[in-house]
Amino acid sequence: MSLTQFRSADESAPAVRPSRVTIQSLQDKKSQGRPIVALTAYDYATARLVDEAGVDMILVGDSLAMVVLGYDNTLPVTMDEMIHHTRAVRRAVKRAMVIADMPYGSYQVNTGEGVANAARFLKEAGAEAVKIEGGASRMDLVKRLTDAEIPVVAHLGLTPQSVHRMSGYRVQGKSVAAIHHLVKDALALEAAGAFTVVLEGIPTEVAQRITAALRIPTIGIGAGASCDGQILVLHDLINMSFSPPAKFVRRYGDAAALITDAVHSFRKDVEERHFPSEEESYHLGKDALAALLQEESLGKRKA
Ligand code: KIV
Repeated sequence: MSLTQFRSADESAPAVRPSRVTIQSLQDKKSQGRPIVALTAYDYATARLVDEAGVDMILVGDSLAMVVLGYDNTLPVTMDEMIHHTRAVRRAVKRAMVIADMPYGSYQVNTGEGVANAARFLKEAGAEAVKIEGGASRMDLVKRLTDAEIPVVAHLGLTPQSVHRMSGYRVQGKSVAAIHHLVKDALALEAAGAFTVVLEGIPTEVAQRITAALRIPTIGIGAGASCDGQILVLHDLINMSFSPPAKFVRRYGDAAALITDAVHSFRKDVEERHFPSEEESYHLGKDALAALLQEESLGKRKA
């Protein structure tokens, strides 16, 4: 992590603050062949841990709908819910770029509404960019967002908001025609102003060709190792998503086991009166205790 010196407001205490990830620093990583690391986060606590671990991009994904809110797909999550969670993430993150995912229905109706909703993420929630799903049909929106100073991450391939059209979550780009389509979409989105493209659920060979064709970075999820960066859903990474992991998920930890063990131990301690201990309890001072005991004994004598 590169660090820059700055002085706090009173100038007396020098402090060290990590330098922020920017569009330029992401682009530099692509040019230098240094992989970009991205993860989702949806709340203050996890966003803080993810940021402090040195991740480059934090996406407040609409996967929030599934992994945090318990819906079957990403479609039900609303603008207000996404804004609420993006704000929490923003408060936690000091270094990574914070990207807000535009929820289904917030940009498909018309371009004006899409721009107005995207602006809310920057203005009300402090996001630095928005992500939208879809190919060349989003070119006009991407141009308008870019003109409105709203950086755009595009998302191609298996786009979860198209779950019904795709007849489920299926790997995309498997025929030569579909591959040409994807490459054309990626180039169109780059030309329209997108600064990064997420490639989800496509064969490695296709992601490799798109990554080579684009000047802007590609971030893969289920798209093989040749993308310029990789993203996963945090809850998949730490076993908190309650569903069998997709082929592309690697579990790096078991938060479910950690939480379950902790809660079982707490329950046992409470039921067996081992919690709280003396050290975990507050006590009256000597004088207050004496006064209380005296009052209680007077009360007993009167009765
Ligand atoms: O919502 C999401 O989590 C995503 C992925 C790219 C991880 O869109």
